Amino acid sequence: MASTALWTPDAASLKILTDTGVQLNLLEPIGAEVCGIDLAASPPGNQVIEVLETIMAERGFVVFKQQQDLQPEEFLAASCWWGGKEIHSTHGVHPATPGQNRDIFRLSNDPKIGIPGVGPQWHNDGSFIPETFSHSGYHIIRPAERGGGTSFAHQGAAFATLPEETKQYWRRLASVNSSSGVVHPLVHQHPLTGRECVWLHLGMTGAVLEQVSETDGFRLLNAQELTALCRAYNQLLNAGFSQDFAVTYEYQQGDCLFIDNLAVAHRAAPEAHLPADQQGLRIMHRSTVKGRDVLKPRLGLPVDVDIYGPHPGGDGIWQSGGVGFRWESDIPMQN
Ligand SMILES: [Fe+2]
Repeated sequence: MASTALWTPDAASLKILTDTGVQLNLLEPIGAEVCGIDLAASPPGNQVIEVLETIMAERGFVVFKQQQDLQPEEFLAASCWWGGKEIHSTHGVHPATPGQNRDIFRLSNDPKIGIPGVGPQWHNDGSFIPETFSHSGYHIIRPAERGGGTSFAHQGAAFATLPEETKQYWRRLASVNSSSGVVHPLVHQHPLTGRECVWLHLGMTGAVLEQVSETDGFRLLNAQELTALCRAYNQLLNAGFSQDFAVTYEYQQGDCLFIDNLAVAHRAAPEAHLPADQQGLRIMHRSTVKGRDVLKPRLGLPVDVDIYGPHPGGDGIWQSGGVGFRWESDIPMQN
């Protein structure tokens, strides 16, 4: 089996951090903790930003500790240190959002406090727009006393574990978002690391196209094939917990995470959606950062298709709206 070992920063990168008083603590098996940066202050220099972005790309996410005094505007400003350097918001605004700030996606296990139940299946944010989001930020306003974190799986390390035959098959596939018809490759090359990464939304995919050959174009996966693909993808990322490329991160008060949305898939742990009177109240503010480039499908496919248009023919799945194709009948799916 291919190695899933993730990058450890080199001496030059570490020196850039230590010279500016930044302490880095690598988390195992993925992620990293950063101390010595005040997210409410001006951004650190470009070199520090670049090193931290590389750590996010290579290890999935970074956690800034003890940011409990960070205000929503400051959280949003710090989100703009990364990737496309501006906020790209596409979500609804919960009435309890401070100042009704439309760039804060307020999540909670109490529907009076924030939006409940979001993201129970492996996904990446912004699969419904061509450029997706480069990064997402999570500011933990209040962790639940009895836990309820987020699971993360590194998608480059995941791809590396696949058998060669599966790698070849998945490289020929592209997913169609059920809500927008936007098309993304199932395997892409990460812009910073060059690693091939898997990328699929298990709660918002309406079709998957396979390139038959360079001359014969594409076909749609049928129900059996798409079910098998979604199950295999789910099992691949779940295997990360035993193969050291996935973790369920339990939040502490004041944590502020930023994730590389092209490198790491995530899902809410089931405990995160248990009611507040049972689990303790959980409140999280999420930000989303504009993508740098379109995450283009390979193989000459268009950036989007009309998923609401007529079925292209054959027995393939072509499912518009909502959570898209249901690959298991009894699982929670919500975006
Ligand atoms: Fe998400």
